[in-house]
Amino acid sequence: MVTARVKPFIEFIILKHLIVRGGSIVKDVRFNRLENVIFVYFCVVLFVCAWLYWLWTRRKYYALIFKLPGRMGYPLVGVALELAKYEPLEAVHKYTETFGPLRYVWMLTYPILLISEPDIIRDILTSPCCTNKNDFYKSIAIGVGKGLFSSKDPEWSVHRKHLNPAFGFKILQSFMPIFNEEVNNLVNLFKEINECQNVVTLLQDFTLNVAIRTTMGVNFAHEFGSESNSAITKGYQWIRRLLGVYEPFHSSNEENRKFIRKLINNKLNGNDGTNLNQGKSKNSNIFIDQAIELMRNNIFAEQDVENESNTIVLGAFETTANTIGYVLILLAMFPEYQQKVYEELLTIFPDGGEFEVTYANTQDMTYMDMVINESMRVLTPVPFVGRENSHDIELSNGIVIPAGVNLLINIFTTHRRKNLWGPNADQFDPDHFLPSNMEGKHPYAFIPFTKGIRNCIGWKYGLMSTKVTLAKLLRNFKFSTDFQYADLEFDYAIVLKLKHTPVLRIENR
Ligand code: HEM
Repeated sequence: MVTARVKPFIEFIILKHLIVRGGSIVKDVRFNRLENVIFVYFCVVLFVCAWLYWLWTRRKYYALIFKLPGRMGYPLVGVALELAKYEPLEAVHKYTETFGPLRYVWMLTYPILLISEPDIIRDILTSPCCTNKNDFYKSIAIGVGKGLFSSKDPEWSVHRKHLNPAFGFKILQSFMPIFNEEVNNLVNLFKEINECQNVVTLLQDFTLNVAIRTTMGVNFAHEFGSESNSAITKGYQWIRRLLGVYEPFHSSNEENRKFIRKLINNKLNGNDGTNLNQGKSKNSNIFIDQAIELMRNNIFAEQDVENESNTIVLGAFETTANTIGYVLILLAMFPEYQQKVYEELLTIFPDGGEFEVTYANTQDMTYMDMVINESMRVLTPVPFVGRENSHDIELSNGIVIPAGVNLLINIFTTHRRKNLWGPNADQFDPDHFLPSNMEGKHPYAFIPFTKGIRNCIGWKYGLMSTKVTLAKLLRNFKFSTDFQYADLEFDYAIVLKLKHTPVLRIENR
């Protein structure tokens, strides 16, 4: 009965559709005004029903509005228009100041939770439901391929479990000769200049070479000649700069992939003149060897080895260069702290020049530790990290977050919150890391490498190479600048960038 009533109506809609779409074929068919009104009415009802259904499926997300402070913005665009007025870092920092350390914003049609509360950060970073990265990482996956940085479970857990040993303590210790040798070259480079326009870019060449030597086992200059060295170096730097700008990015990426494929083939054919670790046994456990072994055992495909190699090198070089560069810039701005570092280095390395830094030496640099930590606190190398919860999770404050929410952990703001770091939280002062000041500090108040299940795989490596580099540079040179700390302005490009990099003066000690 109902079907009989509805049928003519449906036929009418189909016919109308054909007329609108079909144009000339049915142009002689005409509708009267009533039929037109019914047609429009029907479309509106259909649209409203579909829209209500869509809202109903997302009711759990809308319920967040009643649980948390935040901003919904405008329908369909959310706060996108407001955010467009600010730099991402500034915008997120502003939202925290206005709404507190746990709040939502609605971006287009999706809720994003902005988090800078250590208890909640811990809930998320230690929850097995929150190991997947959110949609912000798609550009990384497009850029370098699906590697550790962007892959999702279960693939991520398998890869991470198998690659963790490549960053074990013994292997890291075996990198010390490479760190020392490469930093000696850097010291010689610094001896030639008395002013450096952009210390961060200069350091990127250096950290990239160190990253490729230690993880891929290749010293370009020795093995592949200086031409291919600079081609690959440029390739990686272009990838970082151009993530998302397709054409030039594509060719740089292809260049790097060719290089990695060549390396893999050399190794598979037992033909690897790659001089692993310079004199160490070729049967070592550095990253590329472990990745290839996994491929031989059918755990990795060749594509996985390529993707993970790209990811590791990209993950290592820019973060480490920025960390070292920002310490030098801050110490140039604050000569009193630079002097204290220098005095500590004098006691460990009475003779300057090309001294050897051992692992034991790095453990004696207590003031240096405070300086590096303080620098990573105020100029945190990675300002945000994102996660997505695969299931509903209950946070320690009792709020339940429905599955599929974008969780954005705001490290930059967490590191500068006054209730965590005191009234001078925005200032650079290594005393923030005095043991007496760290007593009782929330373990998730300082997370430059994040913590928990999916932390940085290379954090020990990063700290070790940073310390060796800074020890040799600060023992041999004095850095100064006219740039003021208060004038630093930030940009966000996955890593923290400075809008204007201070020019550094360099004097021999
Ligand atoms: C001072 C230097 C470094 C800093 C500040 C740093 C920071 C970070 C942070 C914050 C993350 C978490 C990203 C996220 O959750 O989205 C991360 C992940 C990662 N880092 Fe580092 N990193 C540094 C050095 C390194 C080095 C030296 C390597 C490699 C040798 C490396 C390789 C990676 C990889 C592969 C990941 C992804 C891990 C995963 O998701 O399983 N990083 N890093």
